[in-house]
Amino acid sequence: MVAGKIHDEKRQGEAFLPGSKRSHSYDRHFYIESYGCAMNFADTEVIASILDQNNFGATPDFQKADLILINTCSIREKAEERIRKRLKDFTSAKKRNPSLIIGILGCMAERLKSNLLEEEKLVDIVVGPDAYRTLPQLIQEAETGQKAVNVLLSRDETYADISPIRLNSNGVNAFVSIMRGCNNMCSFCVVPFTRGRERSRSAYSIFAECEALFNEGYREVTLLGQNVDSYYWRDEENNSNVNFAQLLEKVALISPLLRVRFSTSHPKDITDEVLFTIKKYENICNYIHLPVQSGSTRLLQLMNRTYSREWYLAKVGRIKEIIPDCGISTDIICGFCTETEEDHKESLSLMEYCQFDLAYMYFYSERPGTLAARRFEDDIPLEVKKRRLQEMVDLHRGHSLKSMQKDVGKTFKVLIEGTSKKNEDELFGRNDQNKVIVFPKLNHKKGDYVMVKVHDCTAGTLIGNVIS
Ligand code: SAH
Ligand code: SF4
Ligand code: F3S
Repeated sequence: MVAGKIHDEKRQGEAFLPGSKRSHSYDRHFYIESYGCAMNFADTEVIASILDQNNFGATPDFQKADLILINTCSIREKAEERIRKRLKDFTSAKKRNPSLIIGILGCMAERLKSNLLEEEKLVDIVVGPDAYRTLPQLIQEAETGQKAVNVLLSRDETYADISPIRLNSNGVNAFVSIMRGCNNMCSFCVVPFTRGRERSRSAYSIFAECEALFNEGYREVTLLGQNVDSYYWRDEENNSNVNFAQLLEKVALISPLLRVRFSTSHPKDITDEVLFTIKKYENICNYIHLPVQSGSTRLLQLMNRTYSREWYLAKVGRIKEIIPDCGISTDIICGFCTETEEDHKESLSLMEYCQFDLAYMYFYSERPGTLAARRFEDDIPLEVKKRRLQEMVDLHRGHSLKSMQKDVGKTFKVLIEGTSKKNEDELFGRNDQNKVIVFPKLNHKKGDYVMVKVHDCTAGTLIGNVIS
């Protein structure tokens, strides 16, 4: 998995394989599939834990499940379309087996609420992101033939006390949610509506979870939040506060052998204190995901991003000044309301200037209820959106190849994550800057750190040999 990225397209629709804390057999089995960002995948591990407590074990085969859950995403229309298509497979299973219970969880559940039950007649349960603790009761209700819905958002739920079950895990990398919700109100974005108000999880519980992971053999944690730089937790006991830089430091101090990553940073909020903390600790990875969204200040204003093109470029400059070898990735949207060819060219020129190591590029997809949907017309024709997206993709392809090529000849410390999918005699891992490196296996193993000298690359992978 790409732990450095909050929404990893490669994992979309991934089903969770069994893995459990219990040794005895379960009364019943659930099958769960997750879509969307890493926070949603982290939630699935919390859900698995809640179900485990209630005697439900995970199965990788939905045909064998008593309960099928989909943890959904609403970020773009396409995401929802895909989920509805997949839902058809499950509802046809229900036609064969009427006692099967189907539940929709996550952002789409929150966005559509009980309307989902009208639209998808064979769905039994609808649960929003802050209501997973009530899942066992909702299942009970559904078992009596009723439809069960809980989409209440909370101001304080962080699931801090629930120890997630690391299903499907490679035993090396883990996601750790440090906060929930978002207060930013970017005009295009549905997340504040589906995830509610921002709240930070207790620093003690985050620290305890990371420490336990390290003791179990994990070697990398990715601290997750929609806007990690606004992490702020009040420690009433000690009458003090913990900000994101302090949290990062606390986690980094667990062990120099534990790599720390985080996602996502907002350009308006990332501070020098965070940058200097990254610089200070070798085990905090030199990699920042810094979504820009547009290169045009006019559009950034319409998007309610609260920074300008110049501010963003200055942030990138500051990152490079403090952490010269820092990898930087971004998210960028084309075809947002009123975007002119000039605005689009400004996005291209910003990409050219920043030379992102990785970029996630999207065309604008209007989401009902968002500020943009209410205020502006979605006026850029689809073919123009698609052409602009292609131009961004083509431009970025050159940048990412250049970024890979400049690493040929260099040596990196690599955390080994597993056997290469393409070749059993090779291992793969990532360097500090989040780039995947493959190299001959020899006698090395998952979870080890090795120094790898890169001798070649493809567009997405560095190729090397272990040198010590
Ligand atoms: N909190 C994260 C974003 C999570 S959503 C952040 O602020 O970076 C991930 C990405 O999806 C966003 O960065 C944005 O580029 C994209 N996105 C969000 N809403 C979108 C929409 N309506 N249409 C197209 N892309 C969108
Ligand atoms: Fe959405 Fe903006 Fe919040 Fe990211 S920061 S989740 S883009 S509202
Ligand atoms: Fe994540 Fe999608 Fe929800 S990106 S927060 S799962 S809308």
